[in-house]
Amino acid sequence: MQARADLISEELRERFAEARRVLVLTGAGVSAESGVPTFRGGGGAGVWKGMPFNIISSAGMLERDLPEVWAWFDYRRGLVEKLAPNPAHAALARWQERFRDFTLVTQNIDGLHQAAGARNVIELHGSLWRGRCVSCSSRYDLRELNEQERPPICRLCGNYLRPDVVLFGEQLPLGAFELAAERARACELCFVVGTSAVVYPAAMLPEIASRAGGAYVVEINPERTPLSDLCDETIQGKAGEILPLL
Ligand code: OAD
Repeated sequence: MQARADLISEELRERFAEARRVLVLTGAGVSAESGVPTFRGGGGAGVWKGMPFNIISSAGMLERDLPEVWAWFDYRRGLVEKLAPNPAHAALARWQERFRDFTLVTQNIDGLHQAAGARNVIELHGSLWRGRCVSCSSRYDLRELNEQERPPICRLCGNYLRPDVVLFGEQLPLGAFELAAERARACELCFVVGTSAVVYPAAMLPEIASRAGGAYVVEINPERTPLSDLCDETIQGKAGEILPLL
Protein backbone atom coordinates (compact mmCIF):
# COMPACT_ATOMS: atom_id res chain seq x y z
CA MET A 1 0.00 0.00 0.00
CA GLN A 2 2.83 2.31 0.91
CA ALA A 3 4.49 1.62 -2.44
CA ARG A 4 1.27 2.48 -4.29
CA ALA A 5 0.82 5.76 -2.43
CA ASP A 6 4.32 6.68 -3.62
CA LEU A 7 3.00 6.66 -7.17
CA ILE A 8 1.41 10.05 -6.48
CA SER A 9 4.09 12.73 -6.66
CA GLU A 10 4.39 15.48 -4.09
CA GLU A 11 3.76 18.01 -6.86
CA LEU A 12 0.47 16.33 -7.79
CA ARG A 13 -0.62 16.13 -4.16
CA GLU A 14 -0.04 19.86 -3.76
CA ARG A 15 -1.80 20.77 -6.98
CA PHE A 16 -4.69 18.47 -6.07
CA ALA A 17 -5.01 20.15 -2.67
CA GLU A 18 -5.08 23.64 -4.16
CA ALA A 19 -6.93 23.20 -7.46
CA ARG A 20 -10.36 24.70 -7.92
CA ARG A 21 -11.05 23.97 -11.58
CA VAL A 22 -10.54 20.31 -12.44
CA LEU A 23 -11.47 18.37 -15.55
CA VAL A 24 -11.37 14.59 -15.96
CA LEU A 25 -11.62 12.81 -19.30
CA THR A 26 -12.40 9.11 -19.02
CA GLY A 27 -12.44 6.22 -21.45
CA ALA A 28 -13.25 2.52 -21.42
CA GLY A 29 -10.35 1.75 -19.06
CA VAL A 30 -12.17 3.42 -16.16
CA SER A 31 -14.86 0.74 -16.44
CA ALA A 32 -12.46 -2.16 -17.05
CA GLU A 33 -12.31 -3.08 -13.38
CA SER A 34 -16.12 -3.27 -13.35
CA GLY A 35 -15.86 -5.92 -16.07
CA VAL A 36 -16.68 -3.81 -19.15
CA PRO A 37 -14.41 -4.91 -22.00
CA THR A 38 -12.21 -2.18 -23.48
CA PHE A 39 -12.04 -1.65 -27.23
CA ARG A 40 -8.25 -1.56 -27.44
CA GLY A 41 -5.31 -2.12 -25.16
CA GLY A 42 -3.88 -5.33 -23.71
CA GLY A 43 -2.82 -6.29 -27.22
CA GLY A 44 -6.31 -6.92 -28.63
CA ALA A 45 -9.29 -5.17 -30.23
CA GLY A 46 -13.00 -5.81 -29.70
CA VAL A 47 -14.83 -8.12 -32.13
CA TRP A 48 -18.52 -9.19 -32.15
CA LYS A 49 -19.92 -11.95 -34.38
CA GLY A 50 -16.65 -11.77 -36.29
CA MET A 51 -17.07 -8.03 -36.99
CA PRO A 52 -14.55 -5.50 -35.64
CA PHE A 53 -16.31 -3.06 -33.29
CA ASN A 54 -15.65 -0.12 -35.61
CA ILE A 55 -17.65 -1.84 -38.39
CA ILE A 56 -20.65 -2.88 -36.29
CA SER A 57 -20.59 0.54 -34.54
CA SER A 58 -20.59 2.51 -37.79
CA ALA A 59 -22.95 4.89 -39.54
CA GLY A 60 -22.76 2.63 -42.61
CA MET A 61 -23.99 -0.37 -40.61
CA LEU A 62 -26.88 1.69 -39.25
CA GLU A 63 -28.01 2.36 -42.81
CA ARG A 64 -27.52 -1.22 -43.93
CA ASP A 65 -28.85 -3.11 -40.93
CA LEU A 66 -30.53 -1.20 -38.11
CA PRO A 67 -31.75 -4.41 -36.33
CA GLU A 68 -28.17 -5.72 -36.20
CA VAL A 69 -26.99 -2.44 -34.68
CA TRP A 70 -29.75 -2.79 -32.04
CA ALA A 71 -28.64 -6.38 -31.40
CA TRP A 72 -25.06 -5.20 -30.78
CA PHE A 73 -26.05 -2.42 -28.39
CA ASP A 74 -28.63 -4.66 -26.65
CA TYR A 75 -25.83 -7.16 -26.14
CA ARG A 76 -23.59 -4.46 -24.65
CA ARG A 77 -26.39 -3.13 -22.44
CA GLY A 78 -27.03 -6.69 -21.27
CA LEU A 79 -23.38 -6.94 -20.20
CA VAL A 80 -23.36 -3.61 -18.39
CA GLU A 81 -26.71 -4.20 -16.68
CA LYS A 82 -25.14 -6.81 -14.43
CA LEU A 83 -22.12 -4.69 -13.51
CA ALA A 84 -21.49 -2.18 -10.77
CA PRO A 85 -19.35 0.96 -10.56
CA ASN A 86 -15.82 0.40 -9.24
CA PRO A 87 -13.63 2.47 -6.88
CA ALA A 88 -12.53 4.70 -9.80
CA HIS A 89 -16.13 5.75 -10.53
CA ALA A 90 -16.74 6.24 -6.81
CA ALA A 91 -13.64 8.43 -6.38
CA LEU A 92 -14.62 10.63 -9.33
CA ALA A 93 -18.16 11.01 -8.00
CA ARG A 94 -16.67 12.28 -4.73
CA TRP A 95 -14.54 14.83 -6.56
CA GLN A 96 -17.64 16.74 -7.64
CA GLU A 97 -18.13 17.72 -3.99
CA ARG A 98 -14.45 18.39 -3.43
CA PHE A 99 -13.73 20.92 -6.20
CA ARG A 100 -15.52 24.20 -6.76
CA ASP A 101 -15.63 23.65 -10.49
CA PHE A 102 -15.47 20.01 -11.51
CA THR A 103 -16.14 18.65 -14.99
CA LEU A 104 -16.37 14.97 -15.80
CA VAL A 105 -16.22 14.21 -19.52
CA THR A 106 -16.57 10.62 -20.64
CA GLN A 107 -16.34 8.72 -23.87
CA ASN A 108 -18.13 5.83 -22.17
CA ILE A 109 -21.73 4.99 -22.92
CA ASP A 110 -22.18 2.57 -20.01
CA GLY A 111 -23.71 5.00 -17.47
CA LEU A 112 -21.43 3.74 -14.67
CA HIS A 113 -20.29 7.24 -13.66
CA GLN A 114 -23.92 8.18 -13.06
CA ALA A 115 -24.55 4.87 -11.27
CA ALA A 116 -21.78 5.89 -8.84
CA GLY A 117 -23.53 9.21 -8.21
CA ALA A 118 -21.81 11.53 -10.71
CA ARG A 119 -23.99 14.39 -11.93
CA ASN A 120 -23.79 16.54 -15.06
CA VAL A 121 -21.50 14.10 -16.84
CA ILE A 122 -20.65 15.27 -20.36
CA GLU A 123 -21.24 12.14 -22.44
CA LEU A 124 -19.33 12.74 -25.66
CA HIS A 125 -20.40 9.46 -27.25
CA GLY A 126 -24.00 9.22 -26.00
CA SER A 127 -25.52 6.53 -23.80
CA LEU A 128 -26.38 2.84 -24.07
CA TRP A 129 -29.48 3.58 -22.02
CA ARG A 130 -31.13 5.90 -24.52
CA GLY A 131 -32.76 5.56 -27.92
CA ARG A 132 -33.26 8.43 -30.35
CA CYS A 133 -35.74 8.84 -33.19
CA VAL A 134 -34.02 8.81 -36.58
CA SER A 135 -36.54 11.38 -37.79
CA CYS A 136 -37.57 13.81 -35.02
CA SER A 137 -34.62 13.13 -32.62
CA SER A 138 -36.92 12.56 -29.60
CA ARG A 139 -35.00 10.69 -26.93
CA TYR A 140 -36.24 7.76 -24.85
CA ASP A 141 -35.00 5.97 -21.75
CA LEU A 142 -34.73 2.39 -22.98
CA ARG A 143 -35.54 1.05 -19.50
CA GLU A 144 -39.04 2.42 -20.04
CA LEU A 145 -39.61 0.79 -23.44
CA ASN A 146 -40.55 -2.76 -24.36
CA GLU A 147 -37.26 -4.48 -25.12
CA GLN A 148 -38.97 -6.98 -27.40
CA GLU A 149 -39.81 -4.18 -29.83
CA ARG A 150 -36.78 -3.97 -32.14
CA PRO A 151 -36.25 -1.53 -33.62
CA PRO A 152 -38.42 0.50 -31.23
CA ILE A 153 -40.88 2.99 -32.69
CA CYS A 154 -41.03 6.70 -31.84
CA ARG A 155 -44.25 7.46 -29.93
CA LEU A 156 -44.35 10.95 -31.41
CA CYS A 157 -43.76 10.47 -35.12
CA GLY A 158 -43.90 6.69 -35.72
CA ASN A 159 -40.40 6.43 -37.15
CA TYR A 160 -37.69 4.05 -35.94
CA LEU A 161 -35.48 4.71 -32.96
CA ARG A 162 -31.77 4.08 -33.08
CA PRO A 163 -29.35 3.77 -30.15
CA ASP A 164 -28.49 7.30 -28.92
CA VAL A 165 -24.78 6.73 -29.30
CA VAL A 166 -22.15 8.19 -31.59
CA LEU A 167 -21.12 5.76 -34.32
CA PHE A 168 -17.96 5.81 -36.42
CA GLY A 169 -18.49 8.33 -39.19
CA GLU A 170 -20.90 10.47 -37.13
CA GLN A 171 -20.66 13.84 -35.42
CA LEU A 172 -20.68 14.24 -31.65
CA PRO A 173 -23.93 15.42 -30.00
CA LEU A 174 -24.44 19.13 -30.60
CA GLY A 175 -22.64 21.28 -28.06
CA ALA A 176 -21.11 18.45 -25.99
CA PHE A 177 -17.56 18.80 -27.27
CA GLU A 178 -17.77 22.61 -27.30
CA LEU A 179 -18.79 22.65 -23.63
CA ALA A 180 -16.04 20.18 -22.74
CA ALA A 181 -13.46 22.24 -24.67
CA GLU A 182 -14.53 25.42 -22.86
CA ARG A 183 -14.07 23.66 -19.50
CA ALA A 184 -10.73 22.23 -20.66
CA ARG A 185 -9.45 25.73 -21.51
CA ALA A 186 -10.46 26.92 -18.04
CA CYS A 187 -9.16 24.07 -15.88
CA GLU A 188 -5.98 24.08 -13.80
CA LEU A 189 -5.70 20.34 -13.37
CA CYS A 190 -6.68 17.77 -16.00
CA PHE A 191 -6.78 13.99 -15.60
CA VAL A 192 -6.89 11.59 -18.54
CA VAL A 193 -8.03 8.23 -17.26
CA GLY A 194 -8.31 4.90 -19.07
CA THR A 195 -8.39 6.10 -22.65
CA SER A 196 -6.17 5.00 -25.50
CA ALA A 197 -6.47 8.64 -26.73
CA VAL A 198 -6.75 7.72 -30.38
CA VAL A 199 -10.36 8.78 -31.00
CA TYR A 200 -10.91 12.42 -31.90
CA PRO A 201 -12.06 14.96 -30.99
CA ALA A 202 -12.15 13.59 -27.39
CA ALA A 203 -8.38 13.12 -27.41
CA MET A 204 -7.94 16.84 -28.12
CA LEU A 205 -9.26 17.86 -24.70
CA PRO A 206 -6.06 17.23 -22.69
CA GLU A 207 -4.12 19.06 -25.39
CA ILE A 208 -6.50 22.04 -25.13
CA ALA A 209 -6.18 21.97 -21.33
CA SER A 210 -2.40 21.95 -21.57
CA ARG A 211 -1.74 24.32 -24.47
CA ALA A 212 -4.63 26.80 -24.19
CA GLY A 213 -5.25 26.63 -20.47
CA GLY A 214 -1.77 25.88 -19.10
CA ALA A 215 -3.25 23.08 -17.01
CA TYR A 216 -1.19 20.38 -15.32
CA VAL A 217 -2.13 17.18 -17.14
CA VAL A 218 -1.97 13.75 -15.51
CA GLU A 219 -2.56 10.45 -17.27
CA ILE A 220 -3.64 7.31 -15.43
CA ASN A 221 -3.34 4.17 -17.57
CA PRO A 222 -1.44 0.89 -17.29
CA GLU A 223 -0.14 1.48 -20.85
CA ARG A 224 1.45 4.43 -22.60
CA THR A 225 -0.69 6.30 -25.15
CA PRO A 226 -0.11 8.95 -27.83
CA LEU A 227 -0.89 11.54 -25.14
CA SER A 228 1.70 10.32 -22.65
CA ASP A 229 4.41 12.65 -23.89
CA LEU A 230 2.17 15.70 -23.61
CA CYS A 231 1.29 14.89 -20.01
CA ASP A 232 3.14 16.47 -17.09
CA GLU A 233 2.81 13.21 -15.24
CA THR A 234 1.84 9.69 -16.25
CA ILE A 235 0.87 7.23 -13.59
CA GLN A 236 1.10 3.70 -14.90
CA GLY A 237 -1.57 1.78 -13.07
CA LYS A 238 -5.22 0.89 -12.83
CA ALA A 239 -7.76 3.66 -12.35
CA GLY A 240 -9.54 1.83 -9.52
CA GLU A 241 -6.30 1.55 -7.59
CA ILE A 242 -4.79 4.97 -8.31
CA LEU A 243 -7.74 7.39 -8.09
CA PRO A 244 -8.73 6.47 -4.52
CA LEU A 245 -5.16 7.30 -3.42
CA LEU A 246 -5.64 10.97 -4.26
P1 OAD B 1 -9.95 2.03 -25.56
O1 OAD B 1 -10.46 0.64 -25.44
O2 OAD B 1 -9.45 2.48 -26.88
O3 OAD B 1 -8.78 2.24 -24.53
C1 OAD B 1 -8.87 1.78 -23.22
C2 OAD B 1 -7.64 2.23 -22.48
O4 OAD B 1 -7.84 1.92 -21.11
C3 OAD B 1 -6.35 1.59 -22.94
O5 OAD B 1 -5.39 2.60 -23.14
C4 OAD B 1 -5.97 0.69 -21.76
O6 OAD B 1 -4.56 0.62 -21.58
C5 OAD B 1 -6.62 1.43 -20.59
N1 OAD B 1 -6.94 0.61 -19.42
C6 OAD B 1 -7.24 -0.71 -19.37
N2 OAD B 1 -7.53 -1.08 -18.12
C7 OAD B 1 -7.42 0.03 -17.35
C8 OAD B 1 -7.59 0.30 -15.96
N3 OAD B 1 -7.95 -0.65 -15.10
N4 OAD B 1 -7.39 1.56 -15.52
C9 OAD B 1 -7.02 2.55 -16.39
N5 OAD B 1 -6.85 2.35 -17.70
C10 OAD B 1 -7.04 1.10 -18.18
O7 OAD B 1 -11.12 2.96 -24.99
P2 OAD B 1 -11.39 4.51 -25.28
O8 OAD B 1 -10.13 5.28 -25.29
O9 OAD B 1 -12.46 4.89 -24.34
O10 OAD B 1 -16.14 5.29 -29.31
O11 OAD B 1 -11.97 4.45 -26.74
C11 OAD B 1 -12.41 5.64 -27.30
C12 OAD B 1 -13.60 5.38 -28.18
O12 OAD B 1 -13.29 4.38 -29.13
C13 OAD B 1 -14.80 4.81 -27.45
O13 OAD B 1 -15.57 5.79 -26.79
C14 OAD B 1 -15.58 4.22 -28.55
C15 OAD B 1 -14.47 3.54 -29.32
O14 OAD B 1 -14.68 3.49 -30.64
C16 OAD B 1 -17.30 5.12 -29.95
O15 OAD B 1 -17.89 4.06 -29.92
C17 OAD B 1 -17.76 6.31 -30.71
